[in-house]
Amino acid sequence: MPAELTCFDDRCRARFPITEVIYNCPRCGGLLEVAYPPPAAAPAALKRTWRERRVSNAPLEQSGVWRYREIIPFLESFARVVTLREGNTPLLPAPQAASYAGLDALTFKHQGFNPTGSFKDNGMTCGVAQALRLGMSRVACVSTGNTSASMAAYASAAGLDPIVFIPHGNISYGKLAQALEYGATTLQVEANFDQILALVRTLSERLGIYLLNSINPFRIEGQKTIIVEMLDQRDWNPPDWIVLPGGNLGNTSAFGKALRELHTQGFISRMPRLAVIQAAGAAPFYDLVRTPARGFRAVEHPDTLATAIKIGDPVSWPKALREVACSDGVVEKVSEQEIADAKAVIGRCGIGCEPASAATLAGIRKLTVSGAMASHADVVAVLTGNLLKDPDYIYRYHTGKLEAPDGTAIQPRFGNQPTVLPNDADRIAAFLQR
Ligand code: F0G
Repeated sequence: MPAELTCFDDRCRARFPITEVIYNCPRCGGLLEVAYPPPAAAPAALKRTWRERRVSNAPLEQSGVWRYREIIPFLESFARVVTLREGNTPLLPAPQAASYAGLDALTFKHQGFNPTGSFKDNGMTCGVAQALRLGMSRVACVSTGNTSASMAAYASAAGLDPIVFIPHGNISYGKLAQALEYGATTLQVEANFDQILALVRTLSERLGIYLLNSINPFRIEGQKTIIVEMLDQRDWNPPDWIVLPGGNLGNTSAFGKALRELHTQGFISRMPRLAVIQAAGAAPFYDLVRTPARGFRAVEHPDTLATAIKIGDPVSWPKALREVACSDGVVEKVSEQEIADAKAVIGRCGIGCEPASAATLAGIRKLTVSGAMASHADVVAVLTGNLLKDPDYIYRYHTGKLEAPDGTAIQPRFGNQPTVLPNDADRIAAFLQR
């Protein structure tokens, strides 16, 4: 059986050729996923091959996505793959963050080390490869900023035309600047992420533009390699927990799919648990998991300073729900103050990240307090975006000017004010000796 698209809904499971340009099941409207038979080679042999490829200078082997291509075999040929050497992100121990969150130890998998500064690059190299295979010339996405930066870079590198839709005034300048610099046609629309996604889906169909939001199942395949690389870096010892922020829930879907496949195929002997953390002002998935009887209810006016996860109607929630259940996972929500403080603590570790990423540490802190996560647990938290994505937020926090969307002042509990001094050695010396 070659690679296929299958409907994710268990009641349907319809199958379609891998080259069909569809984002939902044409029969039932369900989400789609890429399915293949397990790799022909045994896990031990593949683990050796993947390790050996790390020393190669070949572009495909230098990619932290395509190095693991046996796990994502949807292409017949790799000749047109465009890689910016995505992935290859470090595992960083963070003792200060661990003690802040009530853990003995904590490791960050920092996806902000990617070429465009976020985990989106892992998925985008795959989405763009599929666009090329399908003969598409234009690609589009709506984005809270990182997807657009990543799509703009990979599409331009591949000679495609990127068209980016963003909620006007609601993404950080760092991310908007990237879309402009990488040459995307950039449309700032007066609506929120969820509303624009519906718009972009209509326009993509009408104009024959390839849609590269995370509803695109090939993006999900690429994001699986974040987990594969992390396990490779840990010599295939699975952690107890993998913690990540939840917005549109594509990454939760990707991580869960990777873990299930690796477990079923014998790469790992047990499943880590997923902990998905949402911002309290944009937490429909948290609400669903807490009160399943109410069913999924979108948040009509999501709001958080962590603009990357300011999403009220995440498309991938059915997949994410299955992955949380399969991994015996949990979902937590955190306040603006908790995110801001956690972010500053991650900064003090010399690591740093963007606000959405810091929801992980804030969430872990709550989970250890409630007893859901043991202090001795082996935990990997995924930092999804680079510190420099949103410097405005950082400056405001440290100078005591950051306000939550409802106007509440955020206390700079870990604030670090810059000091203005005259050009005078004595005065500066006195200041430093105080
Ligand atoms: N962290 C960062 C830095 C993000 O940019 C996003 C999503 C998430 C977490 C949440 O990931 O959607 O897979 O649950 N950003 C998207 C974008 C929506 O448009 O860049 P998710």
